[in-house]
Amino acid sequence: MKEKFKKYIQLRMDAGEEGLWFSPKRNKNLQLDELKKQMEECRACRLGRYRLNPCFGNGTYNTEIMFIGEGPGFVEDHRGEVFVGRAGKLLDSIIRDNLGLERKDVFITNIVKCHPMKDPSNPEKRGNDRPPTEEETGVCIKKFLEKQMDLIRPSVVVTLGSPSTRTILKRKTGITKLRGNIFEKRFSNTKVKIVPTYHPAYLLRSPSKKAETEKDFKLIKKLL
Ligand code: URA
Repeated sequence: MKEKFKKYIQLRMDAGEEGLWFSPKRNKNLQLDELKKQMEECRACRLGRYRLNPCFGNGTYNTEIMFIGEGPGFVEDHRGEVFVGRAGKLLDSIIRDNLGLERKDVFITNIVKCHPMKDPSNPEKRGNDRPPTEEETGVCIKKFLEKQMDLIRPSVVVTLGSPSTRTILKRKTGITKLRGNIFEKRFSNTKVKIVPTYHPAYLLRSPSKKAETEKDFKLIKKLL
């Protein structure tokens, strides 16, 4: 019934009708649900042909803050959820300890929605991760991240690690130089404040960087 109703509403919206009974928040949620369905069917690049489950993002669509990582890994590919491995657990606790927010209060996603694998014929293999290529990232951002941004309209975007930061800021500089700064930028049609910080997987390998991360989060807190 719910699906039928959504389809009916979408048809009327596509025809240009905006009923007074239709709240902007509900409209936004429906459009994001529709975008998620498109992602589930996406085969625009080779990642879509081999992944087990695409990962749209987790949390709430009604938030001021969005976190953007690189791409799903092994656990994410198996669960269809972003940042659910060890790095994800660390990210959750950083958000909780520094911003007093839970995963359900923010939106977390990646620059690519499907697991980039070295050997795509074997998604059950551990240690099979690789960074997404520029081409895969470019296609995925156009199809999904830009639309997520324009619908969710966060005021603050936290980029996690070098690949996500460089891609979003279109800069070649490494994360060590960019982190802890605020970049005011238009991403797609949305004006946002971007704060790069270290990727939680890097923090697992280099726990001494946690102090700098806490500094970055103090800055992020001031922006909210
Ligand atoms: N690393 C990422 O960048 N994203 C995830 O979803 C998981 C690990």
